[in-house]
Amino acid sequence: MLSKKRSLATLSPEERLLSVTYGSRAFSGEIPRFEIPEEGMPAEAAYRLITDELNLDGNPALNLATFVTTWMEPEAEKLIGDTLNKNLVDQEEYPQTGVIQERAVNILARLFNAPRGESGVGTATVGSSEAIMLALLAHKTAWKKARLSRSLPDDRPNIVVSSGVHVVWEKFARYFEVELRKLPMAGERYTLDPEAVAEAVDERTVCVGAILGTTYTGHLDPVAEIDRVLSEIKAKKGWDIPLHVDGASGGFVLPFLKPDLVWDFRLPHVRSINVSGHKYGLVYPGIGWLLFREGKDLPEELVFRVNYLGGEESTYTLNFSRGSSMMLAQYYMLLRLGREGYRRIHAVSLSNARLLSKRLSEDRRFRVVGPADHLPIVTFSVAPDAGFSETGLSEKIRERGWILPAYTLPPDLTHRSVLRVVVKENFSRDMVDLLIADIDRAARALSGSGTPGHKARHRPAVC
Ligand SMILES: Cc1ncc(COP(=O)(O)O)c(C=O)c1O
Repeated sequence: MLSKKRSLATLSPEERLLSVTYGSRAFSGEIPRFEIPEEGMPAEAAYRLITDELNLDGNPALNLATFVTTWMEPEAEKLIGDTLNKNLVDQEEYPQTGVIQERAVNILARLFNAPRGESGVGTATVGSSEAIMLALLAHKTAWKKARLSRSLPDDRPNIVVSSGVHVVWEKFARYFEVELRKLPMAGERYTLDPEAVAEAVDERTVCVGAILGTTYTGHLDPVAEIDRVLSEIKAKKGWDIPLHVDGASGGFVLPFLKPDLVWDFRLPHVRSINVSGHKYGLVYPGIGWLLFREGKDLPEELVFRVNYLGGEESTYTLNFSRGSSMMLAQYYMLLRLGREGYRRIHAVSLSNARLLSKRLSEDRRFRVVGPADHLPIVTFSVAPDAGFSETGLSEKIRERGWILPAYTLPPDLTHRSVLRVVVKENFSRDMVDLLIADIDRAARALSGSGTPGHKARHRPAVC
C-alpha cells in the first residue's frame, strides 16, 4: 500500500511498478499452484496475493457455525504478535513462558476445583482434540498397567460415551485401538443416559466420557449422575472407572455462570477435564487445556524428559514445537477479565442466545431443539410443514453472509436435521434481530410465501 505521505511523483519507476500496480509484474505470468515458484516475488505482492484470495472466505464475525473466538481486543493481538517467535517447548530459552504456562494450568485446576494442596497437573495443548487424546491415552495406559499388575489380560479396552461425541473421540478410538461404545440418543434425550452407562461398562472400560455440552445440540451430559453410577459400580464390582469430562465449550462457561453446578473435580470419578481456550476461553484458535485431578492420574511413563534444548524438561503433548502466543493470550485473558469479566461476557452471550431461542420458538415454522439452557448455543429444526428444509435455509441465508450450519443428529436420531447458532461475545442483541429478520426473509423466499411465519409481533428497527 502507498504511504499517504509520499505522492506518486516521488516514487522511482521500480517502486511504482511494485507499489502502484502490485500485481502487474508478479501476476503477469502464471503462479504455480502446487510447486514452489522458481523465483520469488516482492513481499507486498505475496501479501496481497494471499489476502485477496482469502477474501473469498466467509466473514468470521458472521460465522455462527464456529465455537472458536473470532474477536480479541488490540492489546491481546499485540501480545500475540509480540510473541509469535517463541517456541513453547523451548523452556530453557524462554523459562518465563514456561512459568506462565504452569500458572495458567494451576489457575484452571483451581477453577475446576482440583484437590487443594497439590499443584495443578496438566498442559496447554493445541485445542481440545489434542487434550482429549492425551487424557484418554493416560486412562488407557493406567488401565493396562493395573490389569498387568494383576496378571489380567490387557486387550480389548473400551470407552463408553454418548453418540453425540465430537469426532476426536472416534479418532482416538481408531488411532489408539480402543473400542468406542457409543450409546444412542433417543426421542427428546440428547445426552448420555446414566442407566445405559451402567449397562455398557465392564472390566475392560478404560473410562467413561461426559460432554459439556455436545457439539450437536449444546446439551450437558448429566455428569453428577454418571459419577454416582460409577461409584455404585465401584462399590458393587470393584471397577474404579475414571470419568473424563469433555468441557470443550462448557468448561469456560459453567464455572462462571453456574458455579454451583457440580460437574468437575468435586466429583470423585472425574479424573481429567479438557477445555478449549479458543472457544469460550475467548482466545483465537490454537489453545486448549488438559487438566488431571492429581499427579497419579498421569502415568509417569507417558511424560518424556528431554534435554535437546539445554536443560531437562518434561513434555506430555502430541507435538513437540508449537507457538506460545495463544497460551500467553489465554493468560492475558485470565488476568484481564478475572471471574467477573468472564461472568459478564458469558452472561450477555447467554441472554442473547436465549432471546434468539425465544424468537425462534414463537415462530411456527421452527422447533427449538437446544434452547441455550446452560450454554449460549441454540439449535433448531424446521417444522415438517414449513415448505423448506434446514439445508435449504442454511444455503439461502448464506446469501446474506451468515454461516449457519445444517447437519443431521447422531444415532439414533440421524433422521433429524438441525441448524446451530453458537452465540459468541461479538453477537449483539441487534444481531439477534438482524438474524431473525434474515431467517424470516430466507424462509419466506424458500417457501414461496409472502406471509411471515411469526405470530404478530413488533420487530424493532435496527440501525
Ligand atoms: C464437545 C467437543 N469436544 C471436542 C471438540 C474439539 O475441540 P478443538 O476444536 O478445540 O480441538 C469440540 C469442538 O467443537 C467439541 O465441541
